[in-house]
Amino acid sequence: MNNAYKIKNELYWVGAIDWALRDFHGYSTEKGSTYNAYILKDEKVVLFDTVKAPFESEMMERISSIVSPEKIDYIVINHVEMDHSGALPLVIDKIKPEKIICSAKGKEALLSHFKRNDWPYHVVKTGDVINVGKRNITFLETPMLHWPDSMFSYINGDNILISSDAFGQHFATSERFDTQVNLSDLMYQSAKYYANIILPYSNLVQKLLKTVSDMNIKIEMIAPDHGLIWTKHIPDILQAYSDWSLPKLKKKAVVFYDTMWKSTEKMAYSVTEGLMSKGIIVKMLKTGLENNRSDVITEMLDAGAVVVGSSTLNNEFLPTISDMLTYMKGLKPAGRIGAAINSYGWNPGVLKKLNTELEAAGIKLISDGINVKYVPEKSDLEKCFQLGVKIAQELNNK
Ligand code: FEO
Repeated sequence: MNNAYKIKNELYWVGAIDWALRDFHGYSTEKGSTYNAYILKDEKVVLFDTVKAPFESEMMERISSIVSPEKIDYIVINHVEMDHSGALPLVIDKIKPEKIICSAKGKEALLSHFKRNDWPYHVVKTGDVINVGKRNITFLETPMLHWPDSMFSYINGDNILISSDAFGQHFATSERFDTQVNLSDLMYQSAKYYANIILPYSNLVQKLLKTVSDMNIKIEMIAPDHGLIWTKHIPDILQAYSDWSLPKLKKKAVVFYDTMWKSTEKMAYSVTEGLMSKGIIVKMLKTGLENNRSDVITEMLDAGAVVVGSSTLNNEFLPTISDMLTYMKGLKPAGRIGAAINSYGWNPGVLKKLNTELEAAGIKLISDGINVKYVPEKSDLEKCFQLGVKIAQELNNK
């Protein structure tokens, strides 16, 4: 029997726990995830968001443990992505709500996903308020955090911000609150979520943090649509979002590489040693089975420098490097400096391609890079070491 969990007063968690999830469209979710949905039992009964389609019955059981589903008056759709709306058609058929509350872009996305003109849409915009009895709910559009339709719902009186994807984590737990789990695990999963989902919209995060601050509202809980609910550690996650979105970067470098016959690996080691010789924190990460793309980008979140290394394979870089660079171009970790290293057999052109890809991902090149024919000599490795030193000096001078 799946039960609802009381969050505060008449607000309950009625989501689903996806313990087995290990891949979220290319993002490795080693801790699983949750799809959070909430029920507010005021004079009107309000359901905030739903869950991924296969978890519909789990959510309905949790709802049924506190209220008959047909008593739900309003469904608020803060975000239309299918991990929150997949169950919606079944849920709406069962509940037959009086209103489906969403942003204008939300209505557009719902129509596109589900082709249901007959649903009772009620479009809201930033600052709109609905009364549900003893409480008012205020809406705040947050376009591109994570999709154009995204919005927050603020429950006045209880001072709870339901924040959709923002401030979330892919973290399956039996606990529901930030105080009940290890804080460093929670912050790591929050950082990973930011790096893999929110990072390209960092300028919007800066604006959002200012908007929320200007609203001058009391926030006692931030309840995201994935993972743990923030209570005591609200200042920690707000500070982290501010740092990650600025970005506030450390004297840290990520050296990611793949290698065919160890030439590139030797070069990557030498760059790493050069960085370390000047006190830089380094994460040297072989791409592919050893390090998933989503873990590599997470390490970049607070790193001031990025180095890519690849062997040449059939006049291209290695497939895992292609994968990583494509991922990086989408997430755009701008504001970092970087360089490329390459080993080749007969076509030296891949170094230039690596440079182009790094720049397309927003990385500022501080060197033309280094390429080596076949196997590096001692003098080549010395050049790689000096490249590490040069990057370190740039970081230390910032
Ligand atoms: Fe959790 Fe953008 O969906």
